[in-house]
Amino acid sequence: MAFKKVCTLDDLWEGEMESYSVNGQEVLLLSLEGGDIRAYQGMCPHQDILLVEGQFDGKSLICRAHQWVFDAKTGTGINPDDCQLAKYPVRIENEEIFVDTEGVVPLFTPV
Ligand code: FES
Repeated sequence: MAFKKVCTLDDLWEGEMESYSVNGQEVLLLSLEGGDIRAYQGMCPHQDILLVEGQFDGKSLICRAHQWVFDAKTGTGINPDDCQLAKYPVRIENEEIFVDTEGVVPLFTPV
């Protein structure tokens, strides 16, 4: 495990998302409704579109290109339901957000 500091909780308010390059990988941070933090692959599993350019309402994430919808809590596809976002382990320490990218590979869905 090699957690790396990405930002602070002040940088990511509830209901917000931001994308960061961490160890050469694009990582999307989401602050869910209720304040939990999730980290997923930053690129859509459909095509090479940055998910941060889409919409996020604290519960679901919608890609701007073809409107694929993901459950923000699990990273599982809602529409279509046969896709998944790769998830990175997150650790919060002293109001700082750390992510571990080791061994996590972004997923892509063949169409
Ligand atoms: S690139 Fe995201 S839905 Fe097509």
